Amino acid sequence: MPNGIWLAWDSMRSRTAVIPAAGLGTRFYPVTKAVPKELLPIVDVPVLQLVMDEAIAAGAEHIVLVSHVSKTPVEAYVAPSAAVIDKVRASGRDDLANRLARIGADVRVSVVYQDAPRGLGHAVGCARSAVGDEPFSVLLPDEIMGDATLLNALVDSCEKKGVGAVGLMRVPMEQVSAYGVITPSASSPDEGPYDIVDVVEKPAQADAPSNLIIIGRYVLTPDVFEEIDALKPHANGELQLTDALRAQSLRSPLTGMLNRSQRWDTGTPMGWLTAVVDIALTRPDIEPGFRAWLTQRLGD
Ligand code: UTP
Repeated sequence: MPNGIWLAWDSMRSRTAVIPAAGLGTRFYPVTKAVPKELLPIVDVPVLQLVMDEAIAAGAEHIVLVSHVSKTPVEAYVAPSAAVIDKVRASGRDDLANRLARIGADVRVSVVYQDAPRGLGHAVGCARSAVGDEPFSVLLPDEIMGDATLLNALVDSCEKKGVGAVGLMRVPMEQVSAYGVITPSASSPDEGPYDIVDVVEKPAQADAPSNLIIIGRYVLTPDVFEEIDALKPHANGELQLTDALRAQSLRSPLTGMLNRSQRWDTGTPMGWLTAVVDIALTRPDIEPGFRAWLTQRLGD
């Protein structure tokens, strides 16, 4: 229990998932000039749907989408659409129809707006009143996971310990300077879970405290909003969520857990393409024909 103080959210399970989707997606220009990267298709399902499926599988009852007024297709995607669901069902795709039907039925979806892309910390702060005084998860929608194992583990950890929990992965040291990097406590087991005693955003390789980077799955306690309010902008004007996590971890260690499922970063053309190919190869309706074509193509 942080600082030995009883906190209202101790033993409370996260029920709200925040999905920040107000960014510009500059790494995916020119398509993101008109199409939000959150709606890029993985075969025929937008990444946003896959991320919402994951949140629901980890117990989310309320999804808060942080969007920008210019990104109207994001709102259109989560709007009720009985006619579309009927058509998908009539085409024999009951599984997808059921997933679409859950939006607004099993799970409430709210949209809040970020006025400008002022950084991930600012985007999460925009969800404050929709989240309330409870633990909540944050899922970055340009990262998709093979399943909800990691998010479930983070939700369980936060419920049990009353402190935030974040997803981690190891990267080669040459890559650490592109990410938020954690300092695990000396007593943390090699394979985790780690007690996170510090976090640094995009360190130089020589200054990096480890090769454990934070990936886009978090379960946070609502005191993080106080830390977000106190954030100072970086040189690019952005408020970084990592800085708020640092302030929390210096008070009381957050928990870090290694991801053991598949993960794709769909925020770049190469990452998106690998996700499409990998996932197409798991789709019973696509796999036979696609594999045959791919095998022939690669044999050319
Ligand atoms: P990214 O940094 O990957 O997204 O943020 P981006 O800024 O849109 O992409 P690039 O770097 O220019 O290509 C991760 C997630 O956080 C959201 C983004 O929409 C993305 O889904 N985000 C980021 C916001 O909602 N607001 C922000 O100010 C920044």
